[in-house]
Amino acid sequence: MRKEEDHLLKITADGTPTIQSKIYNTEFHSMHGALNESLYVYLDKGLRYYHENNPKKNIKVLEYGFGTGLNALLTADLAHENLIINYHSLELFPLSVDTYLNYSELLWEKSDVPYNKELFNQLHVAEWEKNVSISPHFTLFKQKCDFREFRPESTFDVVFYDAFGPGTQPELWGKDIFERIFQAMSSGGVLTTFCVQGVFRRMLSAVGFEWKKLPGPPGKREMLRVLKP
Ligand SMILES: C[S@@+](CC[C@H](N)C(=O)[O-])C[C@H]1O[C@@H](n2cnc3c(N)ncnc32)[C@H](O)[C@@H]1O
Repeated sequence: MRKEEDHLLKITADGTPTIQSKIYNTEFHSMHGALNESLYVYLDKGLRYYHENNPKKNIKVLEYGFGTGLNALLTADLAHENLIINYHSLELFPLSVDTYLNYSELLWEKSDVPYNKELFNQLHVAEWEKNVSISPHFTLFKQKCDFREFRPESTFDVVFYDAFGPGTQPELWGKDIFERIFQAMSSGGVLTTFCVQGVFRRMLSAVGFEWKKLPGPPGKREMLRVLKP
């Protein structure tokens, strides 16, 4: 069982908070800026890029690691722009109510972000294992499961691969997981992640993906955009 003390809140360089997992001894986001990283790696280089290249209204997103719900919040916010998004997020260790409330207090009171706090709460209180309509533009399905056990049953256009890095959890960067993701992605589908390791890139090529290194978010040299041809 995970206890409340397993998590510690921290402020990152852009003023937004992140959480440190004491179990894995690592942060959920880059200490160079949590919001900047999420906006850049997942929203701009992932979802927006896919949307610009595939002008369709309905987009299915699969996230590995619901965590604080920050990526989900940013996506729900973007979904007001003429998009309908089905967002499926996997998480084995959902945060306690106290932890996500403390996180949200820091996010709005210390860094004053332009997002809707009520929307953030809705994402957290949404029932698990169920499609929940958060707005006419955004439906959330939170699934409590181990990434390694997940067997996708539908097709996804955009994947946010936001596990802890391979240095911390090498078991979450193996070929078996990425073969399943490949099968589940639509042609032209896009996956983004912060990890650019050579061994990871070679595995992606072996699975059939194409990938491109991109300049990273502030404080990070590179990131990876992966494409299913
Ligand atoms: C980098 S954090 C995700 C950050 C999140 N996307 C956000 O916006 O806050 C990685 C997440 O993976 C979860 N996790 C760790 N091991 C897992 C596993 N084997 N299966 C599913 N989730 C796991 C952690 O609890 C953590 O929430």
